[in-house]
Amino acid sequence: MPLDRTTPVGVLGAGAMGSGIARVAAAYGHPVVVLDANADQMARARAELERALARDVERGRMPAATAGALLDRVAYAGQSGQSGMDAFRRCGLVIEAIVERLDVKRDSFARLGRSVGPDCVLATNTSSLSVSSIASACEHPERVLGVHFFNPAPVMPLVEVVPGVTTAPEVLQRTRALVDAWGKTTVVAADTPGFVVNRIARPFYGESIRMLEEGVADAATIDWAMRELGGFRMGPFELMDFIGHDVNFAVTRSVFEAFFYDPRYKPSFTQQRLVEAGFLGKKSGRGFYDYRDGAAKPAPDTDRARGAPIVERIVCMLINEAADAVFLRVATPADVDLAMTKGVNYPKGLLAWADEIGAVRVVEVLGALQQEYGEDRYRASPLLRRMAREGRTFF
Ligand code: NAI
Repeated sequence: MPLDRTTPVGVLGAGAMGSGIARVAAAYGHPVVVLDANADQMARARAELERALARDVERGRMPAATAGALLDRVAYAGQSGQSGMDAFRRCGLVIEAIVERLDVKRDSFARLGRSVGPDCVLATNTSSLSVSSIASACEHPERVLGVHFFNPAPVMPLVEVVPGVTTAPEVLQRTRALVDAWGKTTVVAADTPGFVVNRIARPFYGESIRMLEEGVADAATIDWAMRELGGFRMGPFELMDFIGHDVNFAVTRSVFEAFFYDPRYKPSFTQQRLVEAGFLGKKSGRGFYDYRDGAAKPAPDTDRARGAPIVERIVCMLINEAADAVFLRVATPADVDLAMTKGVNYPKGLLAWADEIGAVRVVEVLGALQQEYGEDRYRASPLLRRMAREGRTFF
């Protein structure tokens, strides 16, 4: 069965991500059915969609008729007397965006598999769980894959498409073509912890905290250096405060555990303590910075000679992750650079950056760190070392 504009799309979970994904699908023209275990959440999701569309109409971003038609295409299961997974009976694609727990997702996929038609594709929006494990709960695991959106789904262009061990190639190809048609930029990622973006981005946070712990510089100075000298939109500490330390620490921890405790992904006590203290960042009023009324923002040390090595250390660690992801065939070099620029707005692709700096220099920086600390955390990817030896570039 082809996946096109007429295909009914189901969305399981009406939280932040499910609501956004439902909007993306309805905007393209699909009839969409949304189901959540919590009826109040469905009511909130509907009200939020109405508000967001009204805002778009008011600001001239969308004609009223288009907004009305979009809204009409989204049904909230239960409204028409449907219940349980039966609501998805006629869907050609169902995207799951429920709580990030393997047992709950596996249970849902087992039930989904029994409720939908034989041609229906089942996708999970998981950020950190194994797609192969979720798929294996289904009677027909070949129809299951990962389709990982970024928050907020209607705004962020990147979607990581993740085939599991059992995913049929044609399921991957059809689903990717449809998500492309929705106007998204898709990259294919292997079913490995953190896929592309959440794996490669780890040192942006981890190495910054490490430098803070060592007293290389304070948070304000590292943030300033990464923004002003590195070209990143936000510094690592302000970004962690914005994401929330509970969320950021949970991702770091789950990636570390999923990599069988590879020291490269080791979480920090500093962030764990912030979570334990309830310093969750902006949302709780305190994180690395103080957001309470009247609190003064600390001034950075804007000495460029001091900032440059800070940026180089973090960027070399990021390049190392990107190169290793290519080495281990998690994604192609082009997809790695696309993912980091479209998924987390990096100022340029890390591999293009590696070509600029030169693999020789990156290996030298990492080698010096490994020599200094004697830690496996700083080991250079075999691919980078080979490229340095052979004088090769990525592009
Ligand atoms: P959320 O907490 O906002 O929404 C989850 C929704 O699922 C809730 O409304 C809850 O009532 C519902 N739910 C829970 N268990 C259910 C079940 N068994 N059946 C039906 N509904 C159920 O969570 P959010 O942030 O939307 O995340 C959803 C998924 O998307 C997770 O797997 C998460 O890892 C992933 N994700 C989250 C991103 C984010 O930045 N928030 C980004 C990309 C992926």
